[in-house]
Amino acid sequence: MAGLTHPNLVVLTGAGLSAESGVPTFRGSDGLWEGYRVEEVASPGAFKQTPELVHRFYNMRRASLKEVQPNAAHHALVRLEKEWPGSFLHVTQNVDDLNERAGAKKLLHMHGELKKVRCTGCRAVFTWEEDLDKYTPCPECRVTGTLRPDIVWFGEMPYYIEEITRALETVDIFICIGTSGVVYPAAGFARLAVEKGASRLIEINLEATEITSHFTEQRHGAASVEVPRLVGQLLSELA
Ligand code: OAD
Repeated sequence: MAGLTHPNLVVLTGAGLSAESGVPTFRGSDGLWEGYRVEEVASPGAFKQTPELVHRFYNMRRASLKEVQPNAAHHALVRLEKEWPGSFLHVTQNVDDLNERAGAKKLLHMHGELKKVRCTGCRAVFTWEEDLDKYTPCPECRVTGTLRPDIVWFGEMPYYIEEITRALETVDIFICIGTSGVVYPAAGFARLAVEKGASRLIEINLEATEITSHFTEQRHGAASVEVPRLVGQLLSELA
């Protein structure tokens, strides 16, 4: 195989990837943002003013992870990660741990993780499975009221932007799964991939989105069906 280069692949995922596992999406009639106002629970200002409400929201979401399992789409992406011969990066906006539980390793959580908390005082980050409240002391500096969910809130800078931008510089195939394409910077990655010369851009979603026009292929359907189908096709095209 000497001399053969394989296409570089970047996958961007959103809430639609985990929807069939039972993790609610954000927008739409049953979405999380129907029951909560974003600025009440997902902003630094909200954490300052009503930390109880913010903790309750994330405690509920963290606890609900115990009730859900990875679905066929998570497993298919791990198969792609393991079998793809070119470079592979999975960037997720999801804060659940379903990709890891399916075995993902080349994964970046750009919006943080429900199972991590960090101290706004000493900046230490901890893996966290249980509930948190404003009286919980930081295990490192012992101060109370400083631990917060390690989630990127509105108005904050997403994580790993440098690594993601670097991967997009050389991306050949960009795949976007289950995101409405309205939250930036993630919503701008498809356009960036086009500008950087990606030859194939594939969107999987139940419906057309705000960013659909950037894609060379749209596959409308459930992630649990469409992702395994796509992965099978991509891998068979290599053979
Ligand atoms: P959204 O709730 O905005 O969008 C979910 C997308 O998934 C929609 O376009 C649905 O059509 C699609 N979808 C739903 N079920 C699906 C399925 N079974 N198969 C395929 N597609 C499906 O969620 P995101 O785009 O991920 O940020 O939201 C982006 C960010 O907005 C989140 O990371 C969160 C939120 O505010 C922060 O909290 C920082």
